[in-house]
Amino acid sequence: GAPVEVDISKLEDGQMVRVEWRGKPVWVVRRSEAIIEELGGHDDQLRDPSSDEPQQPGYAQNQLRSVKPEIFLAVGICTHLGCSPTYLPDSFSEQVSGVSAGFFCPCHGSKFDMAGRVFSGVPAPLNLVVPPHMFLDDNTILVG
Ligand code: FES
Repeated sequence: GAPVEVDISKLEDGQMVRVEWRGKPVWVVRRSEAIIEELGGHDDQLRDPSSDEPQQPGYAQNQLRSVKPEIFLAVGICTHLGCSPTYLPDSFSEQVSGVSAGFFCPCHGSKFDMAGRVFSGVPAPLNLVVPPHMFLDDNTILVG
């Protein structure tokens, strides 16, 4: 599959754009300052908070799992059995108290934070996969 260019110039805080890469959905989300701060606050509730699992690109092996703090990319496929999780920008605290935004898989209830890190106690075994990508300029990402 060919690499895919994504224009993020119009992407506002909290918004997500979806593209397709190699037949898979890829999400690009702009995280607000508040969300970035929140990502430091719940490591103890996560299965693999620093993404030590080896399937991740190096730049995904940190708390924010991203090249730039504000822009997060993930393959939008649950690491349990492959459903597509739902982005909950406003109502995730109904799933995990104290965490305002995240991704919820409707199939068997797996929960992921705004860095795609899986919460403990759900069926998904791994954090969401961060696809290979690079910034061509401030507003253009190349996925693949
Ligand atoms: Fe997502 Fe099972 S496929 S929880």
